[in-house]
Amino acid sequence: MSDPVLQACGIGVAYGTRRQPVTALHPTDLTLHAGESMAVVGRSGAGKSTLAEVLLGLRRPGSGYVMVRGERFCGFDRGPRAHLRHRVQGIPQDAGASLPPGVPVRLSIERALRRLGVGGDRRVHLAEAARIAHIDPGLLERTPRQLSGGQAQRAAIARAVAVAPDVVIADEPTSALDARTAAGLADALLALPARTGGALLLITHDDALAERCDRILTLREGKVEQSR
Ligand SMILES: Nc1ncnc2c1ncn2[C@@H]1O[C@H](COP(=O)(O)OP(=O)(O)O)[C@@H](O)[C@H]1O
Ligand SMILES: [Mg+2]
Repeated sequence: MSDPVLQACGIGVAYGTRRQPVTALHPTDLTLHAGESMAVVGRSGAGKSTLAEVLLGLRRPGSGYVMVRGERFCGFDRGPRAHLRHRVQGIPQDAGASLPPGVPVRLSIERALRRLGVGGDRRVHLAEAARIAHIDPGLLERTPRQLSGGQAQRAAIARAVAVAPDVVIADEPTSALDARTAAGLADALLALPARTGGALLLITHDDALAERCDRILTLREGKVEQSR
């Protein structure tokens, strides 16, 4: 098997205070390889989003660390390494609200590419990202508010894949969509590993969707209950 693109070791998170900590995630290990999809399932409050936030470098874990392509990413003495941040991209439940408002999506994607110093023809990158996300490139000229829920989720996928990340983490990306739109979006997400060579971590309530992933991690009350 290929080298891991993402390795989490002993990730633990507690909320609350130092005196009265409330454990949200007991020390958890996770390894993702290139081209692989993994579903994370579990009831509401099981710790799925907490895990995602740590892997994205958005929440500092109380214990453990995360490596990206064998490099220290976060959970060490200092904050997340800036030069690795773009390698792990997130797609939230409500992408419309997470994309910069009032800015045509194409511009936010181009800004991200420029920030990262991605060379070459940015229009080509953009067209390729739109193709992977199954979104009409013309829709990227719109601002997030001018997009439907499903279109905004696709725009978020386009933005995520444009920077060629090693890992895409989607946290219940279909839960705000009607069944048909959700099914189309799920297809686009599940096709990502094969199309980009990166890994997909898909947090979902949908057991049928989870079954379509290569592996499934089940969380229960902050502990890995089952893993396959
Ligand atoms: N910001 C927070 N402050 C305090 N407790 C939190 C916070 N975020 C989540 N929790 C708690 O941590 C546990 C895990 O939450 P979460 O990771 O959101 O679960 P899931 O995404 O599986 O629904 C829950 O008990 C939740 O109430
Ligand atoms: Mg959640």
